[in-house]
Amino acid sequence: MVTANSDYLKLPGSYLFSTIAKKTNDYVKAHPDAKLIRMGIGDVTQPLPPAVIKALHKAVDEMGHAETFRGYAPDLGYEFLRHAVAENDYRARGCDIGDDEVFISDGAKSDSGNIQEIFEKDNVIAVTDPVYPVYVDSNVMAGRTGTYDAQTTRWSNVVYMPCTEANGFSPDFPKRVPDVVYLCSPNNPTGAAMNKEQLQAWVDYANQNGVVIIFDSAYEAYISEDNIPHSIFECEGARTCAIEIKSFSKNAGFTGLRLGATIIPKELRDHNGTALYSLWARRHGTKYNGAPYIVQRAGEAVYSEEGKAEVKAMVARYMDNARFIKESLSGMGYEVYGGVNSPYIWLKAPNGATSWEFFDTLLEKANVVGTPGSGFGPSGEHFFRLTSFGTKENSRIAMERIAKL
Ligand code: MLT
Repeated sequence: MVTANSDYLKLPGSYLFSTIAKKTNDYVKAHPDAKLIRMGIGDVTQPLPPAVIKALHKAVDEMGHAETFRGYAPDLGYEFLRHAVAENDYRARGCDIGDDEVFISDGAKSDSGNIQEIFEKDNVIAVTDPVYPVYVDSNVMAGRTGTYDAQTTRWSNVVYMPCTEANGFSPDFPKRVPDVVYLCSPNNPTGAAMNKEQLQAWVDYANQNGVVIIFDSAYEAYISEDNIPHSIFECEGARTCAIEIKSFSKNAGFTGLRLGATIIPKELRDHNGTALYSLWARRHGTKYNGAPYIVQRAGEAVYSEEGKAEVKAMVARYMDNARFIKESLSGMGYEVYGGVNSPYIWLKAPNGATSWEFFDTLLEKANVVGTPGSGFGPSGEHFFRLTSFGTKENSRIAMERIAKL
């Protein structure tokens, strides 16, 4: 008989955002007239940019004609999109990344979850605490765990790096040197962004200790301050220690279309000297048939002049919300972080409430849905995450309701 490994079974019963969706749906069933404002999962609300819609229509038409029809996509991505990503997101910023080091996928969430497949089973991973749950859960599901401590609900091969007010939500180097470190900047959930010196220090640490950094840059479009790197490849030496995962969801609104990319430099090797580039290419070839042609054309349109301007305007609207939410909450006396280089606002629950207590209060008394900080890890306890991905009107109504609590 085949059973899931026992470590898998020690994970929470469902994925954080599925738990929140269930709780929210149960509430709506019991209170059908409630006008909920959803500021929980980081899902966008503005429609796709017109340049993207135009490209989708054109690609759909091509699929309907014998001369322009496309079957299986190349498993590593179409050349036109690999080139657009390498050129615009990397070479335009002075990062030395070749078109063939860009692997196109159906999204950053899948890549974040799947990338662990190219590492050895006994590898130790380090993650920030709080953390985007996919990094930990996917490694535990793969059995990369060591021993389990029921009291702390932690595995010995998963090293946590607390990110608290005391360290400005920026992780310190872990006491035990891991094989792989996951970093996300601007960070989900805290909204904190690493500056160039901080990220360079991580690259130096990784190169000195033979560590691979998996850098999640899903929120780079929200960077508003200078000296915050948009890519880890802006740091010297990153080609020998870093993988970067990028998303089209948060910048261009592709949460429902699905498109992402992972960048692996050819020099990057594991402890055995194997090129991680080749392992990821092998993995893609075996388990993946490529993102749909029409979606890759839509992705290409994000880099057109029209597309770039439209994406910029879209991000600016969400950041207006972020500023408004941050200022409103601060004005109400909340301790508020994030929201400057990030669409996420990270706030302290009032009066010592736990994250889940505050979730219930907001849901029941203000009909606002957010995300409990403790769902991202123990250091997130007593914190709460709100997103600025809603409409301006809903952000305003949500703040009015919270002010009345
Ligand atoms: C989040 O809310 O943390 C993200 O939207 C989840 C995701 O991108 O998968």
